[in-house]
Amino acid sequence: MRNFLVVEDLTPQEIEGVFSISQDLETKYKDGVRDALFPGRVLALVFEKQSLRTRVSFQTAMVHLGGSGLFLGEDTGFATTRESIEDFSRVLSEYVDCIACRSKSHSTIEQLAEHSSVPVINALSDFSHPCQALADLYTLRRHVGRLDGLTFAFVGDGNNVARSLAVACSLLGMRFILAAPKQYHFDNSFKNRVASLAPDAQIEQTEDPVAAVQDAVAVYTDVWVSMGQEEEREKRETAFQSYQINSKLMVNCPNSVFMHCLPAHRGEEVTDEVIDGRQSVVVTQAANRMHVQKGLLAWLLGHR
Ligand code: CP
Ligand code: NVA
Repeated sequence: MRNFLVVEDLTPQEIEGVFSISQDLETKYKDGVRDALFPGRVLALVFEKQSLRTRVSFQTAMVHLGGSGLFLGEDTGFATTRESIEDFSRVLSEYVDCIACRSKSHSTIEQLAEHSSVPVINALSDFSHPCQALADLYTLRRHVGRLDGLTFAFVGDGNNVARSLAVACSLLGMRFILAAPKQYHFDNSFKNRVASLAPDAQIEQTEDPVAAVQDAVAVYTDVWVSMGQEEEREKRETAFQSYQINSKLMVNCPNSVFMHCLPAHRGEEVTDEVIDGRQSVVVTQAANRMHVQKGLLAWLLGHR
C-alpha cells in the first residue's frame, strides 16, 4: 500500500505512470466515456481548511469513475481533543478505500497515514501541496510538449506550493528558480532534501524577478499570505510588493505561460491583465486537477 504525502513519494517513472493513466482518463472523459474503475469505492475527504478545487475535483473524480467522495469537515472533530488522530485513522480506514486530507500541519497528515490501513493522499498541508504540483507539470507538458531541460520560474513565497513544484521539477529534469525576498527563500534543510532526492537538481534562488523569468517556459505565482498565515498579512504584503506578476514583468518572457494554483488575490500577486491574458493557463491547470487526481487514485488503488 502506498501513500502520497509529498511529491517524492512517487519516483519519476511512477509520476509518468500516473500521467499516462490521467491522459487516458482525460481523453475518455472528453469523449463522454466514464470508465467505472471504482464501483462501490469511497474516498473520504478530511479537510481542516477551505477548498474549492481540491475538494470538488476529488469528489467529482470519484463519481465519474463509479465511486463516491465523502466530505468530512470540522464536525468530525478531526485533530481536536475529541479523539486521537490514531483512533480516527484506524476507524475511518475501516469504512473507506482511500483518504485525502487537507490539514493545518503536515505532521497531522503523517500521523493519519501512519495509522491508516488505506492509502492517504495529502490534499494540502502547510508544508506541501503535491497534487497541485502533479497537475501543474502535467498541464505544462501537455501545453509545451516536454519538460526536461526547461526552466520553471516561481515568483513569490517559497511556500507549500513552491516546495512541491521545486521537487516535481527536479524529479522531471527541469531547472527551478524561485524569486522572493531572502527571508521567504527555501531553507537549507529543504534544499538538502531535494539534493539528496535528485542529485542533478537545479534549484536556484534570487531576489530579482526579472532575472528569474527571463529564460522561463513557465512563470508561476501563488498568494503571498497562505491559509494559516493571516496574522502576517501586513508584513508579507510589504515584503512582496515588488514581486507582483504584471505586464511589465511579463514583457521579459513573452513566450512563457503564466500559471497560478488559485485562489488568486487579483491586484496583489498578479494583475487582472496577466491572469486573464493570452499567456495564462490557470483554468486548464484547475481542470487538470481532476484528471490527474483520477490518475493518482487509479494508480494508488491498483489500476496500473
Ligand atoms: N489550488 C487549490 O488547491 O485550490 P483549493 O484551495 O480551492 O482546493
Ligand atoms: N499556498 C496556498 C495554496 C492554496 C491552494 C495556501 O496554502 O493557502
